Amino acid sequence: MTAIATFADKPTLVGEKVLLRPVRPEEDLPMLRATIDDPDVLRYTSDSYTPVAPGWDEARERHFVDWYTTRNDQPDRLDLIVVDRATGRGVGEVVLNEWDEPNRACNLRIALGPDGRDRGLGTEAVRLLTGHALRALGLNRVSLSVYAFNPRARRAYEKAGFKVEGVRRQVLRHADEWIDDIDMAALAEDWT
Ligand SMILES: CC(C)(COP(=O)(O)OP(=O)(O)OC[C@H]1O[C@@H](n2cnc3c(N)ncnc32)[C@H](O)[C@@H]1OP(=O)(O)O)[C@@H](O)C(=O)NCCC(=O)NCCS
Repeated sequence: MTAIATFADKPTLVGEKVLLRPVRPEEDLPMLRATIDDPDVLRYTSDSYTPVAPGWDEARERHFVDWYTTRNDQPDRLDLIVVDRATGRGVGEVVLNEWDEPNRACNLRIALGPDGRDRGLGTEAVRLLTGHALRALGLNRVSLSVYAFNPRARRAYEKAGFKVEGVRRQVLRHADEWIDDIDMAALAEDWT
């Protein structure tokens, strides 16, 4: 079995369409600010209904800057910027978090802004980072959840090697609708 490396190492992972690299605050903050306020990102990644992005008051800006200037110092999670290799520009982020060390498991999340979507970049970013977790880091399980009203993300995760494990019903109240949450995971024994 591969020894488990620590999440403190922040690698650069190179694929065909994307490159994943550590956060460079000066370069990435404007893109990340726009990405977290993007309507699709708000709709599909919030745990409560957020029809409009909150404004940028001083407290939110300070929290945002503190968060992204400290990502490379975190020993228990791995936050990487997704770079579109065709342009060299950052288009979003992909993250391994919720590290469960004794069980060699973690969670994955991803958010791409509009410039990065619908061209296969998300699928490749998920595949690259999951492969890093299951192979280089020796983890056994990478899991995530996806709202049922986000079939694009579900399809991207399936293409990247994740399988559906179950459905948690009516987890999100979105406007006047109840939305289910689909649990998915990739296991080391299945990973090719
Ligand atoms: C989800 C996300 C990472 C996917 O990355 P992406 O680069 O846009 O997706 P890809 O182009 O790699 O793949 C999308 C797949 O879904 C398919 N798809 C797109 N819209 C679809 C829809 N409405 N129904 C079914 N499939 C759909 C595409 O055709 C493609 O599959 P294919 O290659 O078999 O044709 C990205 O769109 C994103 O960050 N969205 C906003 C935030 C978000 O949803 N985050 C995930 C929260 S769980």
